[in-house]
Amino acid sequence: MANVGFTIWFTGLSGAGKSTLAEAIEQRLRQQGRNVEILDGDEVRTHLSKGLGFSREDRDTNIKRIAFVCKLLTRNGAACISAAIAPYREAREWARQEIGNFLEVYVKCPLEVCRQRDVKGLYKLVDEGKIKNFTGVDDPYEEPEHPDVVVETDQETLQESVAKILNALVERGYLTSDVLGEYESARV
Ligand code: ADX
Repeated sequence: MANVGFTIWFTGLSGAGKSTLAEAIEQRLRQQGRNVEILDGDEVRTHLSKGLGFSREDRDTNIKRIAFVCKLLTRNGAACISAAIAPYREAREWARQEIGNFLEVYVKCPLEVCRQRDVKGLYKLVDEGKIKNFTGVDDPYEEPEHPDVVVETDQETLQESVAKILNALVERGYLTSDVLGEYESARV
């Protein structure tokens, strides 16, 4: 039987762990022989969305472009993962409607923890006043009201968060339970 395509739509602050989760899930799905594509915010902004900034309008344009690509991949049976901040509820809902087989995952992590992690050194630049309109600091982040899954990356291990997401995909019928494998025991 042909694979069911779907999109895992991450949303969360910079540094919350979206890319790390995307890569861990990609790895697991590839082990299962799936075709996987990650649309990572930082990467997309170097080509598909090159030249866009961080105004609401530009962020919405960015999200719509990502959603468009996810829609094409999803309808062709791929497993697609969006790992952008996607700060606005309306754009996320638009993506959900467009894509169809869609799992919204809120990658929840307190701003202070993201700031301490500061993986890319951007929060330091924000504090120095060198970056303005940074999501969660001086630009909006609209928390999802009804996400399909919430992972709390400051309280769960990576394995636990991945297990939650895989389990939700199985529950929705997008994957069969053999994908859980070693993750079965990590469920929180
Ligand atoms: S989104 O808002 O349009 O979804 P996207 O995920 O593509 O954002 O890009 C966010 C990434 O851009 C951040 O992880 C960070 O590396 C970088 N960045 C640079 N400036 C900003 C800013 N003002 N707000 C948020 N992220 C920024």
